[in-house]
Amino acid sequence: MLSVPDIVRRLDLASGTIEGCPTTERRLSDLRGVFADSDAYESALQQQDPLIYRVSTIQEGTGQGELHCGLGVLMPGRVGSEYFMTKGHLHSWRPAAEFYIGLKGRGIMLLETDVGNDSVWCNLLPESLVHVPGNTAHRTVNIGDEPLVYIGIYPSDAGHDYSTLTARNFRLVVVAGSHGPKVIRRTDFPAHRLP
Ligand code: F6R
Ligand code: ZN
Repeated sequence: MLSVPDIVRRLDLASGTIEGCPTTERRLSDLRGVFADSDAYESALQQQDPLIYRVSTIQEGTGQGELHCGLGVLMPGRVGSEYFMTKGHLHSWRPAAEFYIGLKGRGIMLLETDVGNDSVWCNLLPESLVHVPGNTAHRTVNIGDEPLVYIGIYPSDAGHDYSTLTARNFRLVVVAGSHGPKVIRRTDFPAHRLP
């Protein structure tokens, strides 16, 4: 049966919630191992455990051809010189691609092949759309002063694999430089100094 209340959902872009949908919150304490600067991470966590991001999902549809969707709100802030970011993941069903649509704020997406041998970054901005191909790990980074709000749309059978990236992390790191955000290789991170 087609039913309009099930078809149309209200998005609350301020809180990052989709009406009537489950929401997951990630605090700083949920992101151990994500930031390259583990000393800065531990000392930030001793001060407080702020909300880093919230994702509200539509995931009722199952079966071939169905889609799922997540509305993400990633807070502004830094741990040491690194901007707040999501955990990042691969899709468990590796061929599953995803579209990200920027709604508010200024972000960067880190994309990396599933085997970790190639990495790129791109902007995630309002009125722009990022195609995350299949077999590609993805992470979102807020480089602005306001919450970064975006939507991701992906196949219902994509699934989320966090453990592969927990083990190896992304090769690229986004840091505040003296001339604004810059993307460096993780292997170069120890040489990086706060502006
Ligand atoms: C879904 C997707 C997004 C993320 C969201 C939070 O496939 O890519 O909705 O789930 O940006 O990031 P993670 O899931 O890495 O904590
Ligand atoms: Zn995804």
